[in-house]
Amino acid sequence: MAFETIVVEIEDGIATITLNRPEVLNALNSQVFNELAEVAANLGADDSVRAVIITGGDKVFAAGADIKQMASLGAVDVATSVRPSRIAFDRLENMSKPVIAAINGYALGGGCELTLTADIRIAADNAQLGLPEIKLGILPGGGGTQRLPRLIGAGKAKELIFSGDFINAEEALRIGLVNKVVPADQVLAEAKKMAKKFASRGAVALSLAKTCINEGQRMDLEMGLQYEHKCFSLLFATEDQKEGMKSFMEKRKPNFQGK
Ligand code: CAA
Repeated sequence: MAFETIVVEIEDGIATITLNRPEVLNALNSQVFNELAEVAANLGADDSVRAVIITGGDKVFAAGADIKQMASLGAVDVATSVRPSRIAFDRLENMSKPVIAAINGYALGGGCELTLTADIRIAADNAQLGLPEIKLGILPGGGGTQRLPRLIGAGKAKELIFSGDFINAEEALRIGLVNKVVPADQVLAEAKKMAKKFASRGAVALSLAKTCINEGQRMDLEMGLQYEHKCFSLLFATEDQKEGMKSFMEKRKPNFQGK
């Protein structure tokens, strides 16, 4: 897969997408969003890929949407264009495999919103996260007003969005914005370790568990429980379920085939 603003590597079933605009702190322009949308579709359809990591490299995750590209837009431009960021973010969020954001340095604005589309966020101890759009006279338009309160609660989300303040990794961990904080030089290794663990589990079960959690957030509890029950029942039609339970009884590790 050849792209200009991202680099994609696949090793042992784990795909790593690296944002690659270091001269502007990985600011996300429409080309980045288009490339992310394309790679998300490609990786989503590739059964050999079992987990995806998204990173900005070891210095910065992403300092937000590209302000220089947005500065001259009018309301009609924004309202009528199908926003490439929406497509990219929806595809990443709904990918049927686990997605881990590995965050070094700044994850701001659209960069922070990109991490919110991942299932898991691992941050470096030097990471700084925030939604500073308010300081530009706009609001987080990459899903931040919707995904952030669902993750950390409305009160904390409002504080971050209304102030535009950055928070450090420890605070992000405390409020549940990130799952784990590790030393800066270990972020990618930690993400790969977690990705490898997820990849060793039953792929169908993991994918349906992800769908239950994501879809469940759009439903009331009763609907969510019914949805979960259907997915749970469906798994009893898979070879992985037979293998998983057989391996338990035979006191050995399961050998899942993802079907
Ligand atoms: N868009 C475009 N260019 C950006 C950028 C962005 N979001 N963030 C940084 N850059 C560019 C800078 O303009 C600079 O380029 P030049 O050398 O050509 O001037 C280069 O990256 C390095 O940045 P700084 O010199 O500013 O680096 P710093 O270390 O002094 O500061 C920073 C780092 C605090 C992250 C600062 O760059 C900054 O505040 N960036 C903007 C953060 C922001 O407001 N993000 C939200 C964007 S809006 C958005 O994301 C909308 C949405 O919801 C989708």
